[in-house]
Amino acid sequence: MTRLALGGAALAACLAVAAQRPDTTNYEEAKVPKYTLPDPLAMRNGERVRDAKTWTTRRRPEILEIYRSEVFGRSPAAPAKLDFEVASVDKAALGGKAVRKQVTVWFAGRNGGPKMDILIYLPAGAKKPAPLFLGLGFLGNDSVSLDPGVKLGEEWAPDPATRKMVKRANAETARGAAAQRWQLDMILARGYGLATINYADIEPDFDGGMPYGIRPLFFRPGQTQPAPDDWAAIGAWAWGLSRAMDYLETDRDIDAKHVAVFGHSRLGKTALWAGAQDTRFAMVISNESGEGGAAISRRNFGERTADLNARFPHWFCANFKKYSGREEEMPFDAHMLLALIAPRPLYVASAEGDQWSDPRGEFLAAVAASPVWALFGKRGIGTDQMPGNRQPIQHAVAYHIREGKHDVTTYDWEQYLKFAGAQWKSK
Ligand code: GCU
Repeated sequence: MTRLALGGAALAACLAVAAQRPDTTNYEEAKVPKYTLPDPLAMRNGERVRDAKTWTTRRRPEILEIYRSEVFGRSPAAPAKLDFEVASVDKAALGGKAVRKQVTVWFAGRNGGPKMDILIYLPAGAKKPAPLFLGLGFLGNDSVSLDPGVKLGEEWAPDPATRKMVKRANAETARGAAAQRWQLDMILARGYGLATINYADIEPDFDGGMPYGIRPLFFRPGQTQPAPDDWAAIGAWAWGLSRAMDYLETDRDIDAKHVAVFGHSRLGKTALWAGAQDTRFAMVISNESGEGGAAISRRNFGERTADLNARFPHWFCANFKKYSGREEEMPFDAHMLLALIAPRPLYVASAEGDQWSDPRGEFLAAVAASPVWALFGKRGIGTDQMPGNRQPIQHAVAYHIREGKHDVTTYDWEQYLKFAGAQWKSK
């Protein structure tokens, strides 16, 4: 029997998956109407971007501003009282294979206020600072492996009696529940570190969760609700990734110039937005991020903007609501979000059994973003023919699709490690 150890957020995600197939959802390629994408290289004033400098200094800020005002909202800078507490270091974790650190990031000073816990594993005996994968997880850090030295986390779950969401300490039996999705041993064996954070530490993932997360910390006096272009939950989670990066930059055992930000599904959307805003992330990996992430919104296939706004109204800023059913009016599309990562390496991955995420739409966004990498003399996807299962394309922009369901698998991690090895070989 598989371990039954789903936390609240994961459970909520599963329930959403079960309920996410309205009759109107199109899954037939032949029924996708034609659409025209905004040209990432056409500036607002009509001028054309012909070189990397114009992209970086003029067009990129235009697109970033569109994403801030219309999609994810505006995020604040790091708080003045940000404080890092290295709570534990074990130099012989996992039977001597790893160094394990548990770091508490205090957002408003070390006073019992809001905080998140980062779990870090580094390869033992490394001769130089380790490059690392950083990712948010749906469950507590204790879910990453069976390592008994990891502090048990806390998760939000519906209270069976009241149906209200409540925060609960994890049980020992939940340890390792997400181990398959992290492939820690493989990551360490290839010489990389792994850092994880439970996204619910930053803001719990339910409509109405905002008061329990970090957003209220930044309200102006008298403010109780976000403004239409204020950050929403995805913005908050992405901001948390940047605060983790603030810590990683201080840790001499970590090669902060080689940190890949990784995320699956809603956390893939989050990884893209974190990487788009914060260029300290040297690589971005979107695992089945789908609608509102890597998939072209204009394609009527699988999940649509209206689905996102109806089911997860807390993820995107209020301005995004106006695009429900009006994707053709968007002054952006997913290829422009991807283009914000250029010229850094970007990996977009899909699964055949995850049609809700629109794998072809994810591939086509990577194709349409690729001309921006070309400005930097880097090779993008290089074809508009979608590859079959397990035929990865790995240039500076990478893509694969594999068989199987919406998940993170060993195959996915094998590709990400191969990609990091190739892209960072000059390291
Ligand atoms: C739902 C949602 C998707 C999201 C996914 C996930 O299926 O509709 O947009 O990516 O949950 O995060 O698992």
